[in-house]
Amino acid sequence: MKVPFLDLKRQYESIKEEINEAIQTVLESQQFILGPQVEEFERRIANYCNAKHAIGVASGTDALLLSLKASGISGGVVTTPFTFFATAGAIHNAGATPIFADIEPDTYNIDAEEVKKLLGSKSNKMIRAIIPVHLFGQAADMDAIMKIAEEHDLVVIEDAAQAIGEEYNGKKVGSMSIGCFSFFPSKNLGGYGDGGLITTNDDELADKIRTLRMHGAKPKYYHHVIGYNTRLDTIQAAILAVKLNHLEEWTTKRRDNARFYSKALSDITEDELELPQIAEGRKHIFNQYTIRVKNGRRDNLKEFLEGQGISTAIYYPLPLHLQPCFSFLGYKRGDFPVAEEASKEVLSLPVYPDLEREEREYVVKKILEFFEVEKDVQ
Ligand SMILES: Cc1ncc(COP(=O)(O)O)c(C=O)c1O
Repeated sequence: MKVPFLDLKRQYESIKEEINEAIQTVLESQQFILGPQVEEFERRIANYCNAKHAIGVASGTDALLLSLKASGISGGVVTTPFTFFATAGAIHNAGATPIFADIEPDTYNIDAEEVKKLLGSKSNKMIRAIIPVHLFGQAADMDAIMKIAEEHDLVVIEDAAQAIGEEYNGKKVGSMSIGCFSFFPSKNLGGYGDGGLITTNDDELADKIRTLRMHGAKPKYYHHVIGYNTRLDTIQAAILAVKLNHLEEWTTKRRDNARFYSKALSDITEDELELPQIAEGRKHIFNQYTIRVKNGRRDNLKEFLEGQGISTAIYYPLPLHLQPCFSFLGYKRGDFPVAEEASKEVLSLPVYPDLEREEREYVVKKILEFFEVEKDVQ
């Protein structure tokens, strides 16, 4: 049996007519730039995320960039070294400096205690903001982070690229501070190309972001700031609006797949395999189902599964403080041991909503086989 890591064609087949019709509507209207579908989608997402404003932009990366620019952040921005590159790339491109803090071993999210330590050190007077990342679809410890931010007068920007719909103590991600979302095709709400969005409850900030995404013009052709060209495409907004109708159902299926894996793999001892942990007050929307393979066997398991037709992925093989492009920041191996260890052990399994029952059973069967555990899977 072949089990792809992600098969978006299946999802498309299930909503083909609605999608094609939505695209056709935009083609007929010819309003490709900030057409009415963008505003309508923004309104719906603001509502879904319990935020006052939602502003569509061209990607999750640009959502981070514009949030930083609109907040006037230069100096240091604390974030996690265990995230997709864009989090730190956007900080640098906004003219600020990424300052890393290690992660929690169980959630892979930034460790608030490590952030506190950083702020306690004299050399870090230049810190202006924190970007927690809700990695794999699980919210970072927002209460702890918001408290630190309040005490030190810091801006908080949630990188919610992987976490649309996730909740922290009943609050939607993106509603607690400035939220940055990505509609990259593999996300839980993914477009057919790039797309992103920013949520905020701050009227003035929303206005600044809207101006920045249109070259800084307000009104058109009058520029008080130098902005960017980064708008959510109308065709993407039309596609995303169709998909938003299915998001809750898809999230439920992802969580169901995750529950299945966690139950079926629970007989493998913890010193061989660690399963994803859901921290208190979180829901986890499982953009990724990520296991930890101990004793240096992660690559062996990956290879074994590949040989059985099962595709898996490693998010992320090299933490950001060790990326060659960030060598100028002066970090070295050993600086963030928890992130470094995670990068050697993590393995993400197929968890998308269209995964067939037989496929997830096959994945489990093969993992049990690798660890030589006998169990009936169903
Ligand atoms: C954590 C995180 N931040 C930022 C991004 C950037 O989003 P995009 O690819 O839409 O630019 C992504 C995803 O790709 C991501 O996973």
